[in-house]
Amino acid sequence: MKKLLQTLNGQTQKSPPIWLMRQAGRYLPEYRKTREQAGGFLDLCYNSDLSTEVTLQPIRRFGFDAAILFADILLVPQALGMELWFETGEGPRLNGILNGFNIDNLKPVSDIHNTLHPIYQTIRNLSEALPSNTTLIGFAGAPWTVATYMVNGKGSKDHIETKEFLNLNPIIFNKLINILTDATIEYLEAQIKAGAEVIKIFDSWAGALSGLDIIEYCYKPILKIVTNLKKNHPDIPVIVFPRGIGGGYSLYAENNLFDAIAIDQSVLPLWAKTLQKSTIIQGNLDPIHLVTGGEKLKREVDYLLDNLATKPFIFNLGHGITPNAKIQNVELLLKYVRK
Ligand code: CP3
Repeated sequence: MKKLLQTLNGQTQKSPPIWLMRQAGRYLPEYRKTREQAGGFLDLCYNSDLSTEVTLQPIRRFGFDAAILFADILLVPQALGMELWFETGEGPRLNGILNGFNIDNLKPVSDIHNTLHPIYQTIRNLSEALPSNTTLIGFAGAPWTVATYMVNGKGSKDHIETKEFLNLNPIIFNKLINILTDATIEYLEAQIKAGAEVIKIFDSWAGALSGLDIIEYCYKPILKIVTNLKKNHPDIPVIVFPRGIGGGYSLYAENNLFDAIAIDQSVLPLWAKTLQKSTIIQGNLDPIHLVTGGEKLKREVDYLLDNLATKPFIFNLGHGITPNAKIQNVELLLKYVRK
């Protein structure tokens, strides 16, 4: 069995499987070249041949234990009929609800495949092309995180715009969350049919919510998504990443429907260890160490491994690798984790 799948099956290994969030990205010269060849980021996402190529690039260069499908969480709102574009240096833009978009104009959920079919083709390509010991991870954004972009039309530091919107317009917001929950089930189901072996759900902005909203808009929608996926695909492991949720991680860890919980770098490994009583942990090296490297990188890796690698554990970062990460530090990390 593949190394990542062994861990997700509950096996403790001599060295943990390792992959990195955003492992295909701008820190790699070959990525920048292919992206240019594609024309732009979205052109790259919808070009199955080039998406396959950029997914494979970090596998060829570093030999990670898993490859994550190259796509983006914001393709789902686009497939539902919102306009999406990327402003260079500024990130994503949508014609969001606060810019006047009416969610009654979203397309039916079953229409998403008309837009997203190249993504399924990328998965089929990767199933053929990946080395036999590399696990293929499919993914989607969680409803709350995707909704923040659909409401605000762009990223936000504190998501105050979307929080205000959900309190003032609960009926519309609930409707949006329900649509996104159904679309995500539909999308992930199609990814599994195409060959995704593991699913990861990114709730990158979970930490912006509090109290009952965490339960209502982060936890419950993900629970519904995973419950539905498990009905037809009980053997496909699901990793959930409610980033920044602090003590709330224990709620996710204690639900045994989720196979593994990804933790961000604000979680102290000493505490994350207590979560390992009920779940498998993925994480959580601070991406800064791939910029700065050296002995400090090694000390932090030791601290992580000493605390977490005595149980089934997936080595990863606490958030995505940054464009200024150094290739030599990624090489050092891999060598050191596998030593
Ligand atoms: O991890 C991988 O290598 C797989 C591909 C992947 C991308 N985005 C490619 C990407 C995945 C899993 C994502 C998820 C994603 N996208 C999230 C959740 C994870 C997280 O980082 O918190 C979010 C919030 C998005 C939305 C998004 N996409 C933003 C905010 C941005 C701009 C930020 C930036 O880094 O420029 C993107 C663009 C994006 N998605 C890039 C990549 C490689 C950079 C685009 C480029 O090449 O210029």
